Amino acid sequence: MSASETPRPRHVAIIMDGNGRWARQRGRPRASGHQAGFRTTRDIVEACARQRIEALTLFAFSSENWKRPPTEVGLLMDLFLRALKSEVGKLCDNNVRIRFIGERSAFQQKLQEEMDNAEQLTRDNTGLQLAIAVNYGGRWDIVNAARALARQARDGQLDPDAIDIDMFSGQVSLADIPEPDLFIRTGGEKRISNYLLWHLAYTELFFTDVLWPDFSETELATALEFYAGRQRRFGQTGEQVTGSNA
Ligand code: FPP
Repeated sequence: MSASETPRPRHVAIIMDGNGRWARQRGRPRASGHQAGFRTTRDIVEACARQRIEALTLFAFSSENWKRPPTEVGLLMDLFLRALKSEVGKLCDNNVRIRFIGERSAFQQKLQEEMDNAEQLTRDNTGLQLAIAVNYGGRWDIVNAARALARQARDGQLDPDAIDIDMFSGQVSLADIPEPDLFIRTGGEKRISNYLLWHLAYTELFFTDVLWPDFSETELATALEFYAGRQRRFGQTGEQVTGSNA
């Protein structure tokens, strides 16, 4: 198989885990782990853009992360705000479109404004489609979609019996881009943690012990190699997929 035929994911979704442990291993405060994690985020966004991956979705803050100590939540919010301000110009120059998925109304006004601003500035960009999940939960996403369809049914615009998987898919976040082909979780845990529950139905799952601040383009290449070696069957037999009679 030539390099050009190597299966490559169109959409990669990542849970960036391990910032805290990375800091602890070095005797540093958790904040330093998140800062190092941010630098990795920047490198991986650039690497994906360079490698012509179409879409990248990153889990930056889950709906459960509010349970962290208030100082850490505040620190993460400051980091997001600073990151948005410092990076949006570069994203724009690199033709990256950024958007946010999740319940953003819970965030401070300033942060919401920066998110809106970044989305507006980059909305016509046609390169990497970057989505950042903030105050996001997969169950929240599914409930939201159900609510939207229920409203249409209540208003007489939709026959409930007409609801099918495609229609439901049209109501969840990121409905306009292909579902993730490859999921990566760093930091050693083998869980989905309420991320993109609807979208990950057929996604290839790659888990690594590498902590997020240590994740690099080399580890990304390992994940892409893992993906290239998978046979995606979507419920069919291996023979059906390869077209062999064996
Ligand atoms: C998980 O590590 C990481 C987070 C909850 C925050 C993610 C934030 C970043 C990677 C930095 C900034 C990103 C953007 C998009 C600006 P953890 O704290 O759960 O680590 P631990 O499991 O080792 O404690």
